[in-house]
Amino acid sequence: MGTAGASWWRDAVVYQVYIRSFADANGDGVGDIAGIRSRLDYLRDLGVDALWINPWYPSPMADGGYDVADYRAVEPVFGTADEAAAMIEEAHARGLRVILDIVPNHTSDRHAWFQAALASPPGSRERARYWFRPGSGPGGAEPPNDWQSVFGGPAWTRVPDGEWYLHLFDSSQPDLNWDNEEVRAEFEDVLRFWFDRGVDGFRIDVANGLVKQPDLPDLGPHDEEGLLLPPSRPDHPHWDRDGVHEIYRGWRRVADSYPEPPVFVAEAWSPSPERLALYLRPDELHTAFNFDYLRAPWDADALRKVIDESLATVAAVGAPATWVLSNHDVARHVSRLGRPLTPGAYSLAHLPPVDTLDRDLGTRRARAAALLMLALPGSAYVYQGDELGLWEVEDLPDEVRQDPTWERSGHTEVGRDGCRVPLPWSGSRAPFGFSPDGASAAPWLPQPADFASVTVQAEEGDPGSMLNLYRNALRLRREHPALGGGEITWLPAGPDVLAFSRGHGFACVVNLSQAPVPLPDGSRLLLASGPLDGELLPADTAAWLTV
Ligand code: GLC
Repeated sequence: MGTAGASWWRDAVVYQVYIRSFADANGDGVGDIAGIRSRLDYLRDLGVDALWINPWYPSPMADGGYDVADYRAVEPVFGTADEAAAMIEEAHARGLRVILDIVPNHTSDRHAWFQAALASPPGSRERARYWFRPGSGPGGAEPPNDWQSVFGGPAWTRVPDGEWYLHLFDSSQPDLNWDNEEVRAEFEDVLRFWFDRGVDGFRIDVANGLVKQPDLPDLGPHDEEGLLLPPSRPDHPHWDRDGVHEIYRGWRRVADSYPEPPVFVAEAWSPSPERLALYLRPDELHTAFNFDYLRAPWDADALRKVIDESLATVAAVGAPATWVLSNHDVARHVSRLGRPLTPGAYSLAHLPPVDTLDRDLGTRRARAAALLMLALPGSAYVYQGDELGLWEVEDLPDEVRQDPTWERSGHTEVGRDGCRVPLPWSGSRAPFGFSPDGASAAPWLPQPADFASVTVQAEEGDPGSMLNLYRNALRLRREHPALGGGEITWLPAGPDVLAFSRGHGFACVVNLSQAPVPLPDGSRLLLASGPLDGELLPADTAAWLTV
């Protein structure tokens, strides 16, 4: 790809491929690299700029691949190294960049390093790559401290010789010790391994978790913690410690040593915009996910506030903003926006019960939310299936659930499987073209029968579908000089209405009120998220306008 796009990432639309659930080419019920290759034209035609592929490395899949056994290889269920190389090349040939997912906070317990640590005695070099400690209490029978796993239960597991090891996630995901030089050198080498293979960047998993306070003090009483939530207190012993920044400066040096420097996007749950901005300083990471935006309720004041704060945060360090509505860790936004407002809630555990869901309302708002997001300055993330209007599958049978949250919470939290159900591509019955005809296995999570109405095939034929809304919006976003990077200027608007201009005669109006509102005088419609009511913009509808 040419150097002309050296800043491509500043306003890229990045499509998140949850590989297990995207497309299954070999019929084993699990998505694979061959499936991605077969759908690259679909992604090009959708109009996105880049793919972010969730971890595709060898893994026992205790946490959907975020338990990596070998960072330099490809999980055989997903394909081969040759297929990965071909996919990268074919994506590039279509003008699509490829971002992989790196998981530096922890390895799988099957990783060679952890296996060696288990086989080595306390105090050994092998154990020093992780956090092994004696227990507390009589006979060391209690965990070394009071830290809890994000997935529920204690963050420590005991090994047969009596020591305990730290895991902020599942017990099969031991935390690496980033004070250890071998760990630092290893990951810089892993980055080079994939950059040498043409990868355009990395999403950094749990980027705020790598450094621990070395004496591992108790956390004490604290607020709830979880994926995407800000750390529960300042000077937290294991989230967002100042020491992480030195690591990312090193990573940036690695990236910048390439003629077309690859880029990073951080998953960093941060206590404040100021703390998040530290990750985005010019010698650190390029971008970070905007979880405050994802967690904002469907409310004009709240959205305007988070948009202003986000833009101010990144402007202070010269980074672009990012916007995201859903990912593989949260309930799909159709199902969030279709419920009574619950500010900040993003998982089924914290949202009102399913009998409060109005899916049509959620879909209408999701359409408006897409136009709002794609009109904001910066880079945007589309989670696979957003463009089809998929909803959270809330009635999966318990026996198919795979998210470790389900077991570790003692079956009190269903976890994240409902947003990971395989995509419906075509046809009227499962597997809806996810797997080929005559597949040897059913999709790894069952698809609901009503996915028939939201297959790619069904939506392609319907001019009013979510898919065609995304296609039109992404095409306009590419063509219109106002969209992508740049400034935003708020325009006067009635209560519960967001209106802003982006220069070049472009404006976006989103009606979050209960009643129709007039459009700005003399404006001409470019695209609307739903039918207008004469000259009026109905409730829960967004419009892109020439003014
Ligand atoms: C990140 C991933 C999530 C995973 C966790 C542990 O938050 O997005 O899916 O479970 O890290 O690796």
